[in-house]
Amino acid sequence: MPRDSEAFWDKVSAKYAARPVSDPASYEHTLERTRAYLSADDRVLELGCGTGTTALKLAGDVAHITASDISSEMLAIGARKAAEAGADTVDFLHADIHKAAAAGATYDAVLAFNLFHLTEDLPESLAAAASLVKPGGHLISKTACLAGKPLIGVLVAAMGLVGKAPKVTFVSIEELDRQISAAGLEIVETGVFPKSPPARFVVARKPG
Ligand SMILES: C[S@@+](CC[C@H](N)C(=O)[O-])C[C@H]1O[C@@H](n2cnc3c(N)ncnc32)[C@H](O)[C@@H]1O
Repeated sequence: MPRDSEAFWDKVSAKYAARPVSDPASYEHTLERTRAYLSADDRVLELGCGTGTTALKLAGDVAHITASDISSEMLAIGARKAAEAGADTVDFLHADIHKAAAAGATYDAVLAFNLFHLTEDLPESLAAAASLVKPGGHLISKTACLAGKPLIGVLVAAMGLVGKAPKVTFVSIEELDRQISAAGLEIVETGVFPKSPPARFVVARKPG
């Protein structure tokens, strides 16, 4: 598990929890598109769940959601919110993508929102996420695609130097889509929500 990344997200967890969703229309749209692929008897894994907002919104649509993250502080906030909401179909798991994959369980759907651009080795992360999907199930992700955005690159690098930004992998939409396909998944729906800075929404099905 990348410990500096874990420490960064622990440190910013309270601020992250208090921050409003930056583009509510885009968020609600991708939530609805995600729901379209979920069924009441599904068992779902969310990777990089943060403070559990999305897991809690989807909890009523599926049988069970395991919401996982590397940050114990993010997870603690999520668990508090779940207890307040009386959500008994969500549980929280301290795990990075690779540890979750090593546990060997597979899921009807694996969700990863605003996560893959924060992982150091994108092909490895996508392969690990794909290994968690049951044949016929879906990996549903949203990823900031910041290749070709030099100003954002400079800003993230400068903020990173003073501990105010995480490490970011800069990938283009085309490269992300190519790598999702290379992980053995078949892309069935895409979009960009929001358009700026671009966040690529991809629903990809595991053949089988
Ligand atoms: C930008 S936040 C997104 C949180 C939530 N998915 C959302 O859309 O609001 C990224 C989250 O990914 C987690 N994270 C970063 N690297 C991770 C990794 N390798 N495995 C699992 N979670 C990770 C961070 O702790 C953080 O909670």
